Order: sequence, then structure tokens, then C-alpha cells
Amino acid sequence: MNIKEDLLNILKDTREYLLYLKETAVEELPAMNGETKQTFSGQVVYKAEDKAQKLNNLLAEIGDCRRCKLWIGRTNIVFGSGNPCTRLMFVGEGPGEEEDIQGKPFVGKAGALLTNIIEAMGITRDDVYIANVIKCRPPKNRNPEEDEISACRPFLEGQIEIIRPQIICTLGTFATQTLLDTKSRISELRGKKHEKNGCIIVPTFHPAYLLRNPQDKRLVWEDIKMIMKELGLKEKTKKKEITK
Ligand code: URA
Repeated sequence: MNIKEDLLNILKDTREYLLYLKETAVEELPAMNGETKQTFSGQVVYKAEDKAQKLNNLLAEIGDCRRCKLWIGRTNIVFGSGNPCTRLMFVGEGPGEEEDIQGKPFVGKAGALLTNIIEAMGITRDDVYIANVIKCRPPKNRNPEEDEISACRPFLEGQIEIIRPQIICTLGTFATQTLLDTKSRISELRGKKHEKNGCIIVPTFHPAYLLRNPQDKRLVWEDIKMIMKELGLKEKTKKKEITK
């Protein structure tokens, strides 16, 4: 067979497939790169600029938020940062002291470890999107409370809805329990893939926990390898590169 014949066959097959879709009442194909469209199942797929714009709109909607009591002690709302068109999103718990000062997620000690983990995957922070369950720092970094999580939940869900990542890696108990709507322990939930609204959720331990419990870094590396496999990333780096 020559190339011309191959191409003609591909065109013929494509035509037949499109006619078949038309017969089965499919009116349009889901958006590929560069277009905002509604897919068959009603999901909206945003193009790159639209995603950035939608995220800005969502941030504007948060405004000078006083939906829960955390506004009293905050310096900055920590909305999220990274690539809105990513296939991989990380969700942490809430801003700490350094994040509150800089207005960016994961820029303190735990953030340095998260950066290390991301780079051990062969990618950078600019390739992923990072957000938190709650967007304001709780006093003395205490755990987020139910009312605070409920007040912030629509904004995290909004971010996920806009970005539509293939995988969300939830960091620690609060992110995992919030996104999986469960009270189960992180130690029971990690090590497996979960599915929610067409998105794969991979829970793992929080980097701040790892700073206190370095022996569990190898478990996190197992979770990260699962994500890399799912994304088709090759394992070039060694476990020790995220465990130092
Ligand atoms: N811990 C978190 O959960 N999020 C941050 O942004 C920083 C530390």
C-alpha cells in the first residue's frame, strides 16, 4: 500500500465515522485545542485564554471575601497559581504564614518540598496548577473548620470546573476528604486512584506531614509514580530526589 492509498482510506473511514455520528443524532464534536465548546454530555471545555479569564472572573467574585471568619486575620487571599490548561492539579489544605504574606500557594517550607516532588516528575510548577481548599490562612495554622471549608468550597470547585484537569493530587486529609466527600482517613485513601466527575483523584500525604515524617516519603513517591504513569511521564528520576 502507498501513502496516497493510506490517506484515502483514512479519509474514507473518517467520512463514514462522521456520517455514523450524524445518523446517531450527534451534532458536533467536543472541543479540541483552542476552542470553547459544549461537549455531548453538556460539559464545557474552555480554550486557554478563556480558562485564564474565567479564573480571573472567579477571583473577582471572591472579592474582599468575608464569607467566613478567616478574613479577620488574613493578609492576602491565596487563590491559586500555575497553568490553567494543565492536566495535573495539586490541592492543598490552606495557606500558611509565607503564603499569606506572598498571596501564593505553597511557597514556604512545605512548598519547597512540593516543588521538589513536582520537579522529580520531570516537570515544573509552571506545568501544573496549585490551589488550596481554603483561601485564607487560619490563625496559627490551625486545621480548617467546617464552615470555612463550606464557604470556600464553591471556589475550589469553580477552579476545577474551569481547569478540568485529568488528575487532581490531593495533599493531605482536608483536601482529600473535601474532594472525595468522605471522612475516611488519608492513610486508607492514598495508594489508589479515585474517580470524581470524570476526574482522577490521587490522594497523598501533605508535604508538611512529610517534613515531620520523612519515612513516608517513599509512599508519596509510589502515589506520584501512579500519576506519572497515568500522564504518560517517563520515570527518569530516582526516588531519592524527592526524599532528600
Ligand atoms: N500548606 C497548604 O496546604 N497549602 C499551602 O499553600 C501551604 C502550605
